[in-house]
Amino acid sequence: MKFDILSLFPEMFEPLKSSIIGRAEKNEFIKINLINIRDFSNDKHKKVDDTPYGGGAGMVMMQNVVYDAYSSIEDKDNAKVIYLTPQGKTLTQKKVVDLSKEKHLILICGHYEGIDQRVIDEIVDEEISIGDYVLTGGELPAMVLIDSISRYVEGVISNESIDEESFSNGLLEYPHYTRPEKFLNKEVPEILKSRKSSRDCKMEKTKIYRNNKNKKTRFVELQFGD
Ligand code: ADE
Repeated sequence: MKFDILSLFPEMFEPLKSSIIGRAEKNEFIKINLINIRDFSNDKHKKVDDTPYGGGAGMVMMQNVVYDAYSSIEDKDNAKVIYLTPQGKTLTQKKVVDLSKEKHLILICGHYEGIDQRVIDEIVDEEISIGDYVLTGGELPAMVLIDSISRYVEGVISNESIDEESFSNGLLEYPHYTRPEKFLNKEVPEILKSRKSSRDCKMEKTKIYRNNKNKKTRFVELQFGD
């Protein structure tokens, strides 16, 4: 899976060099390519935004810099272009799984009041929001997208983890315990100490989670449907 990211702040993507995603890139299961939109400004002060037609607060990212940054990407005929924006369709786990089947994603991170609509109309396939709140730009949402999608790319995490997710039918996992059996006077649930088959054990664990839902754990359904 290749991710091309168009951003005014490519340095914000440093955290993707750590942990599972960092390792996935080192092992070449994914490729993350950062493109600095500002490099495509023709202006001597590297200006990338302008005042909006019709007035109003804030600035608009200029269409030519975003378009030229996009045009610089090679081999993009089969790429899906995603614009991260609070106006987009809210991201769900189903969408994440669908997108993980693509080979090439181009992620556009907006800033200020957004991007000139004409460039969006010309190049964007989908607009995605990561939730009903407004962030200062699309970089954090792009990282959320890369992280959630990469988990489904072959080799990035164990097949067992993904299987367990589909087994639990989109329900977030049960609580986990490790040694010792007793900590702060709290015991590991008896059923988890028995030697059942791993599948039976998972069913039991899921029941424990459901039983506990009104206590301290919260039962959350991932939105597998649209
Ligand atoms: N840009 C700013 N806020 C956003 C959000 N909630 N989702 C996606 N992109 C954004």
